[in-house]
Amino acid sequence: MFNIVPWKLYEADLERFWVHYGLIILGAVIVIITAIVQWAKPAPYGKHESMSSNWGCAVPQRLGHMLSDATPGVVLFLLVFFLYGKARGYANYVFLAVWLCHYTHRGVLHPLMMRYKSSNVAIGITLGGFIPNCLFHFVNADFVGNAEYDSNYYYDPRFIIGLLLYIIGFIINKWADWKLRSLRSQKGSTGYYIPYGGLFELISCPNYFGEFVEWIGWTISTWSLAGLVWTLFAAATFFPRSRHNHQWYKANFEFYPPNRKALIPWIF
Ligand SMILES: NC(=O)c1ccc[n+]([C@@H]2O[C@H](COP(=O)([O-])OP(=O)(O)OC[C@H]3O[C@@H](n4cnc5c(N)ncnc54)[C@H](OP(=O)(O)O)[C@@H]3O)[C@@H](O)[C@H]2O)c1
Repeated sequence: MFNIVPWKLYEADLERFWVHYGLIILGAVIVIITAIVQWAKPAPYGKHESMSSNWGCAVPQRLGHMLSDATPGVVLFLLVFFLYGKARGYANYVFLAVWLCHYTHRGVLHPLMMRYKSSNVAIGITLGGFIPNCLFHFVNADFVGNAEYDSNYYYDPRFIIGLLLYIIGFIINKWADWKLRSLRSQKGSTGYYIPYGGLFELISCPNYFGEFVEWIGWTISTWSLAGLVWTLFAAATFFPRSRHNHQWYKANFEFYPPNRKALIPWIF
């Protein structure tokens, strides 16, 4: 039988119930603030780095990204899943594994392999990632560590379609980041170039598009409000930043392909 809600969470624990859903409500407020702030002005790193920014002292960029992504995405997530989580079905472990695939790459491999223009980044950028990530990653680890899924969820279309989307998004995201890395063919080169090929023919930011697809897949497969609020938070960054990046490309390259969109092929 098809269950609209295919899991049980904190039915007999009101305290944990309200910690979980209270943090989701807080997360929703942060989504709205983030969307407004990011739409108005891009965070000053990468293409939008500004010498006059007041985002605080400089920290090494690779270390900064590891702190903002690997600490909450790997360390905190594992601690919450194993020490605060109680559910131990196959679905819980599948979700743990796919989340860690993303965050060991994003939090460890990505900062080590990318060829950044600047070796430093403002501490405000690091904290601006670290603080909301702690909240959203806690709430997702709390959910996938504690939700007791139906025993036949393995065959549920939400589980299968969501995971497929996650894998497709993961491949697009990693491919696009590698493609951007390869634009700076030599170690130490710092220029910006027009990326061509694959989804870059349709949009300026396939790395953000791929990650957005991943989190949509995550939300569908976990069938959770925790996943939804995290996906909305990612969207609150990806839509504004891809728009700023797209405008930046058009302003800096006279012959930038005019038919490209910013984030969603043919649409946005
Ligand atoms: N979940 C979230 O909320 C969230 C938020 C932001 C990012 N992310 C993820 O984090 C990863 C990195 O994001 P990002 O904002 O740093 O991406 P990005 O601005 O596209 O930059 C990625 C890398 O490619 C380089 N690069 C970008 N465009 C280039 C060009 N035209 N020519 C040469 N090099 C270029 C950048 O160099 P420079 O650093 O020198 O510009 C940087 O090393 C992505 O996978 C993204 O999906 C996730």
